[in-house]
Amino acid sequence: MSMELRVRPAVPDDLVRAAEIQRACLSRPWTADQLGDSLRRESYRLLIAEFGGVAVGTADFVLTGDYAEICNLAVLPAFRRRGVATALMTRAEEIAKEEGGASITLEVSEQNTQARAFYAALGFQAEGRRPGFYGEEAALILWKHFGASADR
Ligand SMILES: CC(C)(COP(=O)(O)OP(=O)(O)OC[C@H]1O[C@@H](n2cnc3c(N)ncnc32)[C@H](O)[C@@H]1OP(=O)(O)O)[C@@H](O)C(=O)NCCC(=O)NCCS
Repeated sequence: MSMELRVRPAVPDDLVRAAEIQRACLSRPWTADQLGDSLRRESYRLLIAEFGGVAVGTADFVLTGDYAEICNLAVLPAFRRRGVATALMTRAEEIAKEEGGASITLEVSEQNTQARAFYAALGFQAEGRRPGFYGEEAALILWKHFGASADR
């Protein structure tokens, strides 16, 4: 079996698996129904990452104005640190650029050190903070601007 990494748009048959991956990774996973409802919206994109034909990661985002907002990013624990999330986010950025986007943004729990390290590695920077966004925990609002300069 090839262990090739592949990122592709989700089809309706992926919804149950995408919800399962989120359930295994996220404190507030979306259900398959929620993902399916979102998938009907033109501005919404759901990506699936596969290893050897098996879905192991997922990312979804909304294209809003001139930026893309990531809703969820999750990679199954056994498949982490192999570039799966990087491949998902790289594709999300490509799509956002293709659609005329200038930036990409998301919220991450201040205490989620692994995700913060991941986003920092990808060039995201905190531009805001929302206390109590995740119950007790604050959210950091991260942005990455696609322009040549990083001085915004
Ligand atoms: C955050 C998450 C999506 C990263 O997925 P991943 O596929 O393991 O990420 P990658 O392999 O593409 O990592 C790329 C780089 O990010 C950094 N990174 C990723 N995970 C890290 C960790 N746990 N600690 C420190 N750095 C990390 C590293 O620089 C890594 O490169 P390296 O492996 O060569 O050192 C994954 O850990 C996850 O699903 N976590 C639980 C859900 C979650 O927190 N989602 C985000 C909510 S906003």
